[in-house]
Amino acid sequence: MASLTKNCCRLFMASVCLCLVSSLAELQRFTQQAKANGSLSFLVVGDWGRKGLYNQSQVAYQMGSVGERLDIDFVISAGDNFYEDGLTGVDDPAFEDSFSNIYTAPSLQKQWYNVLGNHDYRGDVEAQLSPILREKDNRWLCLRSFILNAEIVEIFFVDTTPFVNEYFINPKDHTYDWRGVSPRDDYLANLLKDVNSALKKSTATWKIVVGHHTIRSAGNHGVTQELEMQLLPVLEDNNVDIYINGHDHCLQHIISTDSLIQFLTSGGGSKAWQCDVKWWNP
Ligand SMILES: *[C@@H]1O[C@H](CO)[C@@H](O)[C@H](O)[C@H]1NC(C)=O
Ligand SMILES: *[C@@H]1O[C@H](CO)[C@@H](O)[C@H](O)[C@H]1NC(C)=O
Repeated sequence: MASLTKNCCRLFMASVCLCLVSSLAELQRFTQQAKANGSLSFLVVGDWGRKGLYNQSQVAYQMGSVGERLDIDFVISAGDNFYEDGLTGVDDPAFEDSFSNIYTAPSLQKQWYNVLGNHDYRGDVEAQLSPILREKDNRWLCLRSFILNAEIVEIFFVDTTPFVNEYFINPKDHTYDWRGVSPRDDYLANLLKDVNSALKKSTATWKIVVGHHTIRSAGNHGVTQELEMQLLPVLEDNNVDIYINGHDHCLQHIISTDSLIQFLTSGGGSKAWQCDVKWWNP
């Protein structure tokens, strides 16, 4: 009897360990209720935090009005949340000056789901991920990569900055905060594996992937080759419907005959570019 109990105990412990390991490897999940009739609406904004300047406040005002008309359920930020160099720490007043005190319209008092952009990685990246910011403004939720289950749609948020070689090889006069990312190869391999397996398991009617960087874009930054090579095949394999990004400071909707994925850019949160088009021949 005694040895049986001991074996059971060992088995139990082994399974507890396995659970811990597998939950560590999985992307964190959040849930968002759809409306009573099953529909959902949300806004996406990227490239915004400039203390209201460069038309950030004007865009925020229009978001408030559109948000009310659409009766939005939540807001997505596609990254580059705080210019020029992210937040200096959890006490950086830019959090209030560029977020809480800017998006004040009643319709925008919903959950915000945020990813990081390259400019965010130039500051204290962990500040934006900190629960302290969620206490300061409970709309704020920023993680590197995570999943939002909203009944008819599952949204997969992917941390795209660590894919871009230039930030590592030729950072110019910028300093990137790679804490939590190195060793980079392992980070990227695990991320791609997690996104792939989460997409495979998904039974949602719509699958949307959100990242900061472009995959298809005719804007100034153009196509992000690292994502085209590494992330796009995962999206293609798993019948993703829509990829949404920021990075290029404009609005775009790109479809092509060689892919079923629709590519949306929403990077006009501030300092939107005019006539800054880089023609690209797919
Ligand atoms: C569901 O409700 C929302 C807001 O209450 C409305 O805007 C939308 O058109 C409705 N959708 C359907 C499919 O009835
Ligand atoms: C703000 O938007 C207006 C209208 O598009 C544009 O003419 C102006 O240059 C913008 N200002 C800044 C500082 O970006």
